[in-house]
Amino acid sequence: MAAMRARRFFGAAGASWRTLKASGRLSKDSKCLRVLLPCSVGSAALLMLHQNNFMCEERPRVALITGSSSGIGKAIAERLAAEGFLVVVNSHSSVEDGKAVAAELPGAMYIQADCSTRQGCEALVKEVIDRCGQLDLLVCNAGVGKWIPHDNLELIDDAYLHKIFALNCFGPLWLSRAAMPHLKSVENSSIIMIGSAAGGRPMGSSIPYSMTRAAMNHLTKLLAKSHGPVRVNCVAPGLIETRITHGGEWGASYAAVKTHTPLKRVGQPADMAEAVMCCVRSRYMTGQTIYVDGGASLVF
Ligand SMILES: NC(=O)c1ccc[n+]([C@@H]2O[C@H](COP(=O)([O-])OP(=O)(O)OC[C@H]3O[C@@H](n4cnc5c(N)ncnc54)[C@H](OP(=O)(O)O)[C@@H]3O)[C@@H](O)[C@H]2O)c1
Repeated sequence: MAAMRARRFFGAAGASWRTLKASGRLSKDSKCLRVLLPCSVGSAALLMLHQNNFMCEERPRVALITGSSSGIGKAIAERLAAEGFLVVVNSHSSVEDGKAVAAELPGAMYIQADCSTRQGCEALVKEVIDRCGQLDLLVCNAGVGKWIPHDNLELIDDAYLHKIFALNCFGPLWLSRAAMPHLKSVENSSIIMIGSAAGGRPMGSSIPYSMTRAAMNHLTKLLAKSHGPVRVNCVAPGLIETRITHGGEWGASYAAVKTHTPLKRVGQPADMAEAVMCCVRSRYMTGQTIYVDGGASLVF
C-alpha cells in the first residue's frame, strides 16, 4: 500500500515537472525554479489526495465468507453481494456447489480451501489478496457438528474431537492471523465469527461442539481488544434450518422451538445474514457476541 502510494506520488510529481520543463519556462538558474518546484510537488500531492478519495468511494469492499457453498454461509454471501460487496465464496468439499453460488453473484469468485488447517487458511487469504488486492471483511462461518448425547461421553472419539476443534476453533484463529495485516490496511474493516447459542449455555449438539463455540466467543473478545480498529464480533445462531439440522435427532428440537419460543419459528439462513449486516453496518460495535435465536435462550 505504502509502495503503491509512493509510486503514484512520484509519478504525479514527475509528470508535473515534465510539463513545466516542456513549457520552456524553466532553466537551472531561473528564479521560477524555486517557485515551480514546490508547485509541482504540491500539485502532485493534491492530485493524489483527489485520487485516493475517488478510489475509496469507488472501490468495492471485499468480503471472504468461509463455508459459503450452502446454508448460513451461502445466505451471507448472497446478502453481502446484494449490499455491493465483492464476495469470495469458499468451501472444501462441495466445489461445484461453491462455484454455482459464486456464479450467481455479481463479481463474486470461488476459492477452494480447507479452513481446518493453518496452510489452508493462509493460502485462502493469500489468494484473496492476490486476486482482489484487499480484504475488508472476513466472515468465519465454516463449521461442523454432529449429534452426540451429552450424557454419553464414550461416544466422543479422538478423530471427531480433533476435527471439530481444528475447523470450528483453530481455523478462525489462523484465518484471523492471516487476514489481520490486510484488514488493518483498510478503513472500517471487521471480522465476524459465526458461533452458536450453544457457546454461551450448557446445550448444543455435543459437548465438544459447545466447547468450540464458547472458545469462539472468547476469541472474539480477545481479538477485538488487541486488534482495534479492526472490529471483531460474533453472531451466535440458535436452531437454523439448514442441511446439518435436517432429520434425525433434530426433529424434537424443531418441535420444541415451534412450540415454546416467543417467535414460534425455526430460524432461516437469511435471518443470520440480516444479523451479519447489523455487525457490518455498526461502526462502534466490537467484542460482542449477539445471540440470534428467536428468543430461544429466554425459555430453554
Ligand atoms: N444450522 C444451525 O442450526 C446452526 C446453529 C448454530 C451455529 N451454526 C454454525 O453455522 C455455520 C454454518 O452452518 P450451516 O448450518 O449453514 O451448515 P452447512 O450448510 O453444512 O455449511 C457448512 C459450510 O462449511 C463448509 N466446510 C465444511 N468443512 C470445511 C472446511 N474444512 N473448510 C472450508 N469449508 C468447510 C461446507 O462445505 P464443504 O463441507 O463442502 O467443504 C459448507 O459450505 C457452522 O459453523 C455451524 O456450526 C449452525
